[in-house]
Amino acid sequence: MTEFKGPVDFDYLRKAGEIFAPIKQLSYKKMQIKQGDIVLDLGCGPGIDAIELGRLVSPDGFVIGVDYDEVMLRKALEQVEILKMDRIVHFQHENASALTFPDNYFNSCRSERLFMHLNNPEQVLGEIYRVTKPGGNVVIIDTDWASLSIDCQSVKTEQLLSNYRLENLLTNGYSGRSLYRMFNNVHFNDIQVDVFPLYTNDLELFYALSLQETVENNALTDNIITQRELDQWRMELKQAALNNSFYCSINMIMVSGIKPY
Ligand SMILES: C[S@@+](CC[C@H](N)C(=O)[O-])C[C@H]1O[C@@H](n2cnc3c(N)ncnc32)[C@H](O)[C@@H]1O
Repeated sequence: MTEFKGPVDFDYLRKAGEIFAPIKQLSYKKMQIKQGDIVLDLGCGPGIDAIELGRLVSPDGFVIGVDYDEVMLRKALEQVEILKMDRIVHFQHENASALTFPDNYFNSCRSERLFMHLNNPEQVLGEIYRVTKPGGNVVIIDTDWASLSIDCQSVKTEQLLSNYRLENLLTNGYSGRSLYRMFNNVHFNDIQVDVFPLYTNDLELFYALSLQETVENNALTDNIITQRELDQWRMELKQAALNNSFYCSINMIMVSGIKPY
């Protein structure tokens, strides 16, 4: 099996942030944030959400963005310093699996597109539960990669590549659709599910946001598809883009719940 070196860089995540902006906004609403709150963004990446949350808790509260990528956190901090929000938005280098915060510390917590990278998602949700105050809201967003649908002739290749992404490239490819079950297992109250269908006609954007090139190259190396099948697939997609008929869609899943008293 070829090794996956990780999909995320700062520019990729900022681009994704623009596309997911309405979903992000709804997640802040569901957190029911008040001025003065202490809020967690777990797997905060470039700090897009931490900054927005910082505006909501100002002037007395604060936000902690946690990530295990130190380079990402340094860049996130640079943004916060430019915006002069460093008193309100802090970043902490930690692994989501073993948070160092005390029990019942945060008024609310969120995490977006982290769980697909976790090999112990239920343990991490348990950690989030532990650090949330009773009555606090938790919101988790993830991609349902199993719902990826691309209009094409080479349906067999599409399915092979999609399954490869789900089962070999992502650590927890079925994360999106498993969130509801996990919220139940961890005993959150008032569990709500929102599903957001996204689509694009932009082939380049699809490649940029779906790790598609890595999926294709790794699937070829691992003999999941042949060079001939890959060439045919790429030609079809390119042709569709030239004809302005490229189509792909996917669902994002948001699950929220309240920690009981
Ligand atoms: C797809 S990015 C999403 C970033 C951000 N939530 C956003 O919406 O822009 C996933 C982030 O989770 C971080 N991450 C992955 N596994 C982690 C772990 N075990 N502990 C902490 N951060 C982790 C990555 O470094 C990356 O920044």
